[in-house]
Amino acid sequence: MGGFLDGKAALVTGAASGIGAAIARAFAEEGAQIALIDQADTSATQDHITAAGGESFGLQLDVTAEAAMTEGVAEAVARMGGLDLSVASAGIADDGLLTETSLADWNRVIGVNLTGVFLTGREAIRAMTAHGRGGRVINIASDHAFFGWKERSAYCASKAGILGLTRVWAREFGPDILVNAVCPGPVETPLLLDGITPEIMARETDIPLGRVGQPDEIAAVALALAGKAGAFTTGQVWSVNGGSAMP
Ligand SMILES: NC(=O)c1ccc[n+]([C@@H]2O[C@H](COP(=O)([O-])OP(=O)(O)OC[C@H]3O[C@@H](n4cnc5c(N)ncnc54)[C@H](O)[C@@H]3O)[C@@H](O)[C@H]2O)c1
Repeated sequence: MGGFLDGKAALVTGAASGIGAAIARAFAEEGAQIALIDQADTSATQDHITAAGGESFGLQLDVTAEAAMTEGVAEAVARMGGLDLSVASAGIADDGLLTETSLADWNRVIGVNLTGVFLTGREAIRAMTAHGRGGRVINIASDHAFFGWKERSAYCASKAGILGLTRVWAREFGPDILVNAVCPGPVETPLLLDGITPEIMARETDIPLGRVGQPDEIAAVALALAGKAGAFTTGQVWSVNGGSAMP
């Protein structure tokens, strides 16, 4: 294996499944070594990468746990000898009608989707800054950042919050570290299929491209942001949604 990410070190959260797994596989295919971070077992992603001749290792971490993330990211960076790329894709979508949402429900979604991105980005950028190599940070948000969706208060708020973090970090850490967000529309993963409702199906049929996306189609955009195509792009939001939202 080898490509334009040869010699690069990357971490990807949410790497056990869906979009995170697809990004990890795509980065490894281009030659990067990948730390696969997830609270779930990442061995399927690792096996796929190994079978294709790539290099990766798993770290079972909860992205909301501060001390574990600090230690885990430091361990990953030490093992890889630095860090060039960080992708925050871990996320959950269990939400409900506002009037039935407890503070615990709210905190759970905000915890994974927003605090998790904060902790991942902070630890990654600390490592990139310490090694003086610069880097690229990619935060996976959602088209839900742009439009409200019933029974998704915490989810929509968390995804809009990720765009705020992305813009602040782009200003704080340019020109060495480029920070961008990717906003997928509906993508065929366990997260989408878990929460499928007639309303979501109706919205999908209204997508100009007439279908949901595939994880590899999101990974292709992450690859672009990680490479030459992303060299003059920071603080931006890249929608990959078949036209589901036109912000
Ligand atoms: N699938 C879609 O339609 C869609 C659309 C827009 C945005 N997104 C976003 O893309 C990202 C990836 O979602 P996906 O569709 O691949 O879902 P997925 O369920 O396939 O993968 C999410 C991964 O995050 C991990 N995770 C959850 N909580 C965690 C925690 N506390 N610590 C560590 N890992 C944790 C899960 O174990 C899982 O492997 C999410 O942020 C999601 O909000 C997905």
